[in-house]
Amino acid sequence: MEPIIRVEDVSFSYKINEKNSVPVLKGVSFSIFPGEYVAIIGHNGSGKSTLSKHLNGILIPETGDVWVHGYNTQDATKKREIRKTVGMVFQHPDNQIVATIVEEDVAFGLENIGVPREEMKRRVDEALHVVQMSQYRLRPPHHLSGGQKQRVAIAGVLAMQPDCIVFDEATSMLDSFGRKEVLRVMREMNEKGMTIVTVTHHMSEAAEANRIMVIEEGQIVMDGPPREIFKHKQELENLQLDVPPVSQIAEIIHSKFSFFSNDIIHEKGLIGEVVKFSSGEVGS
Ligand SMILES: Nc1ncnc2c1ncn2[C@@H]1O[C@H](COP(=O)(O)OP(=O)(O)OP(=O)(O)O)[C@@H](O)[C@H]1O
Ligand SMILES: [Mg+2]
Repeated sequence: MEPIIRVEDVSFSYKINEKNSVPVLKGVSFSIFPGEYVAIIGHNGSGKSTLSKHLNGILIPETGDVWVHGYNTQDATKKREIRKTVGMVFQHPDNQIVATIVEEDVAFGLENIGVPREEMKRRVDEALHVVQMSQYRLRPPHHLSGGQKQRVAIAGVLAMQPDCIVFDEATSMLDSFGRKEVLRVMREMNEKGMTIVTVTHHMSEAAEANRIMVIEEGQIVMDGPPREIFKHKQELENLQLDVPPVSQIAEIIHSKFSFFSNDIIHEKGLIGEVVKFSSGEVGS
């Protein structure tokens, strides 16, 4: 299968002035395939946002290449194709709202690419439905809560029908309800075949993905399924990262009752094990 995004030996530094620059990405290579759900984790300043912005050509590599559906992000003539293929949702919903009415905000990108009115209406309806914001369509976005604004921002990206959406800490400003809502949308879109890349500081969110990439000082230092990655508790700790809270709880119980599984990364798994444990199924 052809990757949807191919990152090839990418290095990047921010120019501070004529003489100085901050090297951030250092020879990063990986591919993302259609239908994957990838979480990127790493401590503050490790280069996650810089990497994310390379995935749809907001930033261009200094050396190396990023290919989106076979188009090189260095090729300015393919910018529109690339942005249509890979959408981005950022941390601050306020910075992503551009119109004064929710439905106009969601339609904004479509107007820019000249989608016919009927088609535009259909796509806006569908996108608002997916994020469960249809009843707010005529409201001014600035009166909405942070979580609702973020869902409107996501609807705007969904309406463009990208093949992949990159979420850069899109849940970090939200309360637990807002976060769950956004996670639900990510999961549902992925189940429909959309490729999801999500940058997060929440290990429980990363555990939802099918693949985790760990970035440290601008390099990918681990890449694998969540269950594999979270086995490396000590290495993660050395990188100032954690395992999901449910894994920590399972580990504590496991240390007292060795038959209680410590191979748990999801809430559901922990509940299941506790139910088995309390009904005497485990260890008997
Ligand atoms: N526009 C910029 N100009 C100069 N340096 C920058 C710029 N943006 C980021 N940096 C630096 O690049 C490095 C990586 O930043 P980046 O935002 O990619 O990290 P991050 O992993 O997303 O961090 P966080 O978890 O805080 O969001 C940091 O040292 C940061 O200070
Ligand atoms: Mg960041």
